[in-house]
Amino acid sequence: MGKSSKDKRDAYYRLAKEEGWRARSAYKLLQLDEQFNLFQDVTRVVDLCAAPGSWSQVLSRVLIKGEKFGRAGWEQKQADTRRYVLGLKDEEPITAELPEEKTQNPREDVRIVSIDLQPMSPLDGVTTLRADITHPSTIPLLLKALDPETYDSNATSARHPVDLVISDGAPDVTGLHDLDIYVQSQLLWAALNLALCVLKPGGKFVAKIFRGKDVDLLYAQLKILFARVRVAKPRSSRASSIEAFVVCEGFCPPAGFNPSLDQPLGAATEIPGTQLPKHKTQPAKKVREDGAVEIDLGSEEETDGSDMEDAGLRWIAPFLACGDLSAYDSDATYHLPKDRISLDPVQPPTAPPYRRALEQRKLAGGAYGKTKGQDRQDLD
Ligand SMILES: C[S@@+](CC[C@H](N)C(=O)[O-])C[C@H]1O[C@@H](n2cnc3c(N)ncnc32)[C@H](O)[C@@H]1O
Repeated sequence: MGKSSKDKRDAYYRLAKEEGWRARSAYKLLQLDEQFNLFQDVTRVVDLCAAPGSWSQVLSRVLIKGEKFGRAGWEQKQADTRRYVLGLKDEEPITAELPEEKTQNPREDVRIVSIDLQPMSPLDGVTTLRADITHPSTIPLLLKALDPETYDSNATSARHPVDLVISDGAPDVTGLHDLDIYVQSQLLWAALNLALCVLKPGGKFVAKIFRGKDVDLLYAQLKILFARVRVAKPRSSRASSIEAFVVCEGFCPPAGFNPSLDQPLGAATEIPGTQLPKHKTQPAKKVREDGAVEIDLGSEEETDGSDMEDAGLRWIAPFLACGDLSAYDSDATYHLPKDRISLDPVQPPTAPPYRRALEQRKLAGGAYGKTKGQDRQDLD
């Protein structure tokens, strides 16, 4: 498939090149921000699994340069529309009854640390580390990058904790769904364990998940650590993909909980001394006369967690589709003018793991399989 065919079939791939983003993933973070206002009051951020760096680009442009994207961009668009409808000039304020228009400026003391297995081209104001997020040796690297002046090699958590940890980690998918979901979940747990060491109380954690069979167990575990857990599917994420994002807000670890990479949390770990705290909620349920349990997903009630297991219930996270409805549909094909020139990607991967396979495929006769009469061994 050529670049121009991909431009038609993937509007976000084309748009990313036109608007200068290193990857189409940028739109996923921007649409999540539109919905959840992720960057409000945020100055210290860790971006895990960051290469080629479009999420870090978003962070750099919004936090350091003060550009209006995501929620701020959406608010600006709303304000412009109101001005147009009301016939106001650019400098005239919108009337008091309408929501206040916000101006976004570069923020002070911004720190952004990005980590990936792959090397990443530098970005303004972003510290990039090449490391494996599943390896315990990564935490001292991260702590040092966050607080280079005050780093203490005995520390297990950040001196100046961060406001937001984001992770777009994805394995090289094999197509074997169970295996892909398992590897993805290991990346998610690694990201969460790193986040627990660096997040400040009230902080946010956003991570890619694959919605597999037991994903509700993960939601319930996250709900022990965060006041609010939601699952979101940005418009730029293809409907056919099982990918979604957990958006966890209000980091509130249970009293006495000490994050430790020596005993990291995992799917089967019990978080010490925890039951779902009183303020947590679950979908409201009612036991009918015939003994069956009815669950009302539209409303929530308080729980201490103990009855959930007895009734065989798990906490179900609210699911939200996000991104402006007028935004491109990632599953649609768009017609483009015939004379349109297809652009090159802004930042091709520096050292992709599939480079050798591509080189070998090229040697073996091209992108679409082996050429006639070619021996299968050529590809090995
Ligand atoms: C979908 S890409 C991330 C795209 C990125 N958010 C962006 O906007 O450009 C997934 C990344 O996860 C990284 N990754 C996978 N396993 C990792 C690990 N164990 N440690 C660090 N990075 C990892 C891959 O190298 C890859 O760059």
